[in-house]
Amino acid sequence: MCLVLGIETSCDETAAAVFDSSKKVVLSNSLFSQIALHEKFGGIMPEVASRSHVEKIDIIVQDALDKANITLDDISAVAVTQTPGLVGSLLVGICFAKGIAMAKNKKLLGINHNEAHIYSSLLSDDGFLRNDVPFSHLCLSVSGGHTSMFLVHDREKYEVIGQTLDDAAGEAFDKVSKLLGLGYPGGPVIEKLAREMDFKDFFDFPRPRDRTSLDFSFSGLKTAVLYKLVELGVYDLRSGIIPGKADEELQKKVASSLLVCIADTFAIRIKAALKKFPDVAGVSMVGGVACNKYIRNHLSGVCSRRGKAFLAPPPKFCTDNAAMVALVGALKAERGEYSLFSLDVGR
Ligand code: KG4
Ligand code: ZN
Repeated sequence: MCLVLGIETSCDETAAAVFDSSKKVVLSNSLFSQIALHEKFGGIMPEVASRSHVEKIDIIVQDALDKANITLDDISAVAVTQTPGLVGSLLVGICFAKGIAMAKNKKLLGINHNEAHIYSSLLSDDGFLRNDVPFSHLCLSVSGGHTSMFLVHDREKYEVIGQTLDDAAGEAFDKVSKLLGLGYPGGPVIEKLAREMDFKDFFDFPRPRDRTSLDFSFSGLKTAVLYKLVELGVYDLRSGIIPGKADEELQKKVASSLLVCIADTFAIRIKAALKKFPDVAGVSMVGGVACNKYIRNHLSGVCSRRGKAFLAPPPKFCTDNAAMVALVGALKAERGEYSLFSLDVGR
């Protein structure tokens, strides 16, 4: 039996999971979300994040082991997110993983967080490895920290074909939510308000003009929303939101228009990528923003009209989690690609 313990602390989730690579299934997937700690700041405070990881890491790792009904002696390797992420947060996971590897004489695997998201589409709802994921496929990976498109040739074989030139799409949801006084994280609340407006587009926020590029840019969209709020007289550039002005109706209209605009932007880029790589079998969407049902349905329609499969993992494997880290660790372990104990935060 080959059991890989996965540890993820790159941002605001302290997570641990166990993947059984002989049965090809996630045995446990434990997580402590720091959302409540960062809510009052309207975004992630790096120092608060690292301190919370230090407080929770041993509890979460123990929880993952207990739920898998194993002890540290049973695992064969520890996989830990090495990069990218908040340096202080990454360090907590890396030091903890190194400690386990040294004390228990286990192999160590440094994992790229983006790579873990890419292969999260291999995980089904019950944690078993899907064997129907077609290769090669396009992967749109969208979270609060990144927006990228990959051409995924096979397991552990992929290349970047597009990325954001400035902000990530999740960041656009989070920043607009903050502008509207709706709190952090923005994606879920924006989706909820947009649904109440039947996903209508009221403000026609700007879509990408270049329809052939595979790169993204969301900073202009953020600014467009800001100036729309100024124009509507609900936002002052010096003092921020004018109390009592941004009523619920307006919040819903902005939320709905923003979501439709972002979904359209993804559709434009996916159509361009399918033109450039017509032989791919399908498209996957991963990362926190892939929890969004409206975007999933929209992109699924784009793909089915072109005869391509569309897949996205269940929400628990879209947002940051350690199951995807343990899975990529297991794929690397199969090939003997272990890391050295000198493993440090990557660049
Ligand atoms: O992957 P993730 O958990 O962490 C990062 O690596 O950033 O993604 C978090 C991001 C946040 O920006 C959050 O607003 C967004 O995912 N998100 C959503 C939804 N749920 C989470 N965005 C749109 N719709 C959602 N339902
Ligand atoms: Zn992530």
